[in-house]
Amino acid sequence: MSLFNFLVSKTIMHVPGPIVGYFAKGYIAGSTLDDAAGVAGRLNQQGAMVTLDILGEFITTKAQATFFKEQCLKILQTIHDEKLDGNLSLKPTQMGMLLDKEFAFENIREIVKKAKELDNFVRIDMEDISCTDDTLEFYRSLRAEFPGHVGTVLQSYLRRTLADIDELANDQMNIRLCKGIYNEPRTAAFKDGAITNRNFVECLDKLFGYGAYVGIATHDEKLVFESLRLIEKHGLKKDQYEFQMLLGVDQQLRQILLDDGHRLRVYVPYGKDWLPYSKRRLKENPSIARHALVQMISREQ
Ligand code: FDA
Repeated sequence: MSLFNFLVSKTIMHVPGPIVGYFAKGYIAGSTLDDAAGVAGRLNQQGAMVTLDILGEFITTKAQATFFKEQCLKILQTIHDEKLDGNLSLKPTQMGMLLDKEFAFENIREIVKKAKELDNFVRIDMEDISCTDDTLEFYRSLRAEFPGHVGTVLQSYLRRTLADIDELANDQMNIRLCKGIYNEPRTAAFKDGAITNRNFVECLDKLFGYGAYVGIATHDEKLVFESLRLIEKHGLKKDQYEFQMLLGVDQQLRQILLDDGHRLRVYVPYGKDWLPYSKRRLKENPSIARHALVQMISREQ
């Protein structure tokens, strides 16, 4: 890691919001649903599907959770009204899972019910290890009640994930597979990137083996390469899986996959709570800050 990247990664959590905002704006669609719908429409025109996400997590009051539930219902309605090719991603803690589990479940249930009414789909994002069991429990119950309208996320850095796949296996399995973004203890998660990658490939192989529809969520070209081999090995058609990438990350790889005819979905976050999300993104990839800085300096000349 270069000195610049090291410094950004170590200090980013203390950098003032407006400065982070400058560097992170490529990752966020804007602060309103209108902004997000505009970005989604443009991505649709480029051939990409979207999943919309209103930023906000680990909330502290039920009123906040109710606010986010209402926003999620509005997102689904907007996708329907504006005929966007997109679905919704939400975070269980945003629905109050750490405040009151039953309350959070009812919030998510109402959203998935609405998705079913509108013939759409809700992805329940996976947060840190304190949320894994409850999130999978929510997913199992909702999948039984609204088959085809809900999916969740598994993280290949977790030691438990291969076993979770066996536990979850059924003919309605819809999983986004990613490496995982939270800083977990070594007892729960692999700390070696090479092992996380190898586990990603094993998990994907197992998921395809069970007939799961998988959202392959990575920008790591090594994993994209391995995924393409597995797609071939399992003889999958183009509508039996999709790739997923974050807004603002590696648009070239996105285009390569689209040009090759793969389904690809872009995760489009928006909202006023953009700061923690942006800091995470910059901490994860400090070179983004360097690119923005170079662009800013060259604009000034
Ligand atoms: P890796 O981190 O090795 O990145 C590969 C290359 O891609 C990097 O070298 C860099 O160039 C670029 N890159 C990757 N991430 C970048 C970023 N943020 N900014 C700029 N460049 C970046 N995690 C989780 O725990 N729960 C979840 O629900 C989700 N949901 C989710 C949805 C979608 C659509 C995606 C793409 C990712 C997630 N993640 C997630 C995050 C995921 O777990 C992981 O942390 C990131 O995708 C980075 O891992 P990669 O597989 O891209 O590899």
